[in-house]
Amino acid sequence: MVTAALPYANGPKHIGHLAGAYIPADVYVRYLRLNGKGVVFVSGSDEHGTAIPNQALKENTTPKAIIDKYDALIRNCFHKLGMSFDIYHRTSEPIHHETSQQFFKKIYDKGLLTEETSEQYYDNEAKVFLADRYIVGTCPKCGHPNAYGDQCEKCGSTLSPSELINPRSTLSGKAPVLRPTKHWYLPLQNYEGWLKEWILDSHKEDWKANVYGQCKSWIDAGLQPRAMTRDLDWGIKVPLPNAEGKVLYVWFDAPIGYISATRALFKELSEGKKEFATPQSTFANPKIDDWKKYWQDDETKLVHFIGKDNIVFHCIIFPIMLHAEGEYILPDNVPANEFMNLEGDKMSTSRGWSIEMHEYLEDFPDKPDVLRYVLLTNLPETKDSEFTWKDFQAKNNNELVAIFGNFVNRALVLTQKYFDNKISALGSLTDVDQKVITDLKEFPSRIAESFENYRFREATAQLIDLARLGNKYLAETEPWKLAKTDLPRVGTILNLALQIAASLSIVCEPFLPFTSKKLSTMLNFNSKNWSDAGSSSLLKIGHQLGEAKLLFEKVEDEVIEAQIKKLNDKKKMMEQSAQPAEPAKPEIAFDDFSKMDIRIGKILKAERVEKSKKLLKLQVDTGLDTRTVMSGIAEHFSPEEVIGKQVTILVNLAPRKIMGVESQGMILMASDKDGKLRLLQPSEVVAQGSKVS
Ligand code: 2FM
Ligand code: ZN
Repeated sequence: MVTAALPYANGPKHIGHLAGAYIPADVYVRYLRLNGKGVVFVSGSDEHGTAIPNQALKENTTPKAIIDKYDALIRNCFHKLGMSFDIYHRTSEPIHHETSQQFFKKIYDKGLLTEETSEQYYDNEAKVFLADRYIVGTCPKCGHPNAYGDQCEKCGSTLSPSELINPRSTLSGKAPVLRPTKHWYLPLQNYEGWLKEWILDSHKEDWKANVYGQCKSWIDAGLQPRAMTRDLDWGIKVPLPNAEGKVLYVWFDAPIGYISATRALFKELSEGKKEFATPQSTFANPKIDDWKKYWQDDETKLVHFIGKDNIVFHCIIFPIMLHAEGEYILPDNVPANEFMNLEGDKMSTSRGWSIEMHEYLEDFPDKPDVLRYVLLTNLPETKDSEFTWKDFQAKNNNELVAIFGNFVNRALVLTQKYFDNKISALGSLTDVDQKVITDLKEFPSRIAESFENYRFREATAQLIDLARLGNKYLAETEPWKLAKTDLPRVGTILNLALQIAASLSIVCEPFLPFTSKKLSTMLNFNSKNWSDAGSSSLLKIGHQLGEAKLLFEKVEDEVIEAQIKKLNDKKKMMEQSAQPAEPAKPEIAFDDFSKMDIRIGKILKAERVEKSKKLLKLQVDTGLDTRTVMSGIAEHFSPEEVIGKQVTILVNLAPRKIMGVESQGMILMASDKDGKLRLLQPSEVVAQGSKVS
């Protein structure tokens, strides 16, 4: 049972998310499938929590519109990147609400939740209780004026909202007030002994050091009761009487989402409405209740793929929930990754320093595997790692193109040229041949060992080493030089080279599924069986090959430069929109305003003004007359761009001589924080001379 964190459907997701959880999860699952394991792979949208209604406020729409929009966007990107989920579910689905409520009710009925009333911050204006993240104030430790209610990003201290000096709500900007409210708590401290045994004693060896270390520091610091409910009108209703206005804590329902996704999968499979991503030998006739085999059977191995910010939830809180419920298995491993930085800085969607999945796919629609490969070579498995566009180019050009693609292409093209695109017989084998056969045989088990230990970077390095083996073999044997003198020898070499290519087509499938498919078609060979890989007799003598095509193409310098520019531009734009607007001018009387006569006019003519960089000389039809206006917009618009456009013009401004020409009025413009000017136009075309008031 493999899960990949359910991404919040409150915005696009970037390549750091891919590197953190989704790509390693997909590679792992594809590897298991090739080994005939009955694996189920789930993920889906996390659609609750305060982040969703808050994003709706920002985008001036409803929470439902937000989740529908981002669920569709993320789902589509995952699909294009080859994520082979058996189901990509949604926590807004009724089956998930039902599963979560049952789960809550069961531990409540067992008496495992405590009910407590406490004082929490309430925003009187927005009329909501405020989650810690939505309260800001001065950090009591370092004086940073914009620390969050749960953490100060300047000094890194963990805070609670009551510690903030001068707290204010991020929703209304007003000071929040304390109000009593009742919630249901999971007393995590009661499970400390059990957790110590389960994690600290039993998983010291097999869990990754970063994961184990984080668990240990949480447990050592002592666990506290944690509220499993929230005051919010968006989420799953607390299934108890007297729980009006209360919903389940998002981190209570989200991980249960893995279970409801599995339930939904088996429901649909049993009704014949869906199929596994890959046919499963273990499940010829899936039944509706078979989801239990994945969640309630000790033989099942449960693995959660997540980023490091999710460790406490998947290693401490969710396991306590599962343990408390009583019927579920616990994760066997949680191979969480650290973060991936971008061009020397932390990746962040809100700061504009990110490559969003959809942005990559728009610019490189035919290169999902290149991104998979580059991220895999750079996974933040033991510490934070770094993505740079230069590295992307280098890995593509020097490894995928020059090693993998080049090897396969040479072997295929030569076979096409000399052997009618068929596999030749093997002649007597030289030492070099024997060596390559032995080396080839070792790869699949070595890569498998890396997979079994969740070392995907290492596995990826071995994959390219396998292609390197083929490339080196051709470089050493130089079949292209022998065609005239010893054609049978050429046949032997190409036979062996293509056996390597056939193994590559199997072994590369978890990493590069699209490439694997392409290569299989080119070789006219298709095995979905890991145990076939490494054999030097996969392609029989006389086997007819398919058409040779290039597997990868070079990425040029211009493309990389354009991406770096795009990244910097996006950041600049985000910084500008984050700047507060200029303060308002002093108040004026209505009379002051009504003195101005503002009209809609149309630009009839426009020309540059000699010796002036800034000015355009315009002829404007104001409805009253046609007049000349000297306008300082030449750095923003070419004359052609403005001719024929409607504009807003102040017509009773005293005339003024500018560069020797009398200017009769002023065109009004919107100036953005980036300094760029835009025309002010009516939303529909109106008659020239229409009054603006
Ligand atoms: O960090 C996040 O994006 C969360 N939405 C992950 C949830 S994982 C699981 F618990 F659902
Ligand atoms: Zn601080």
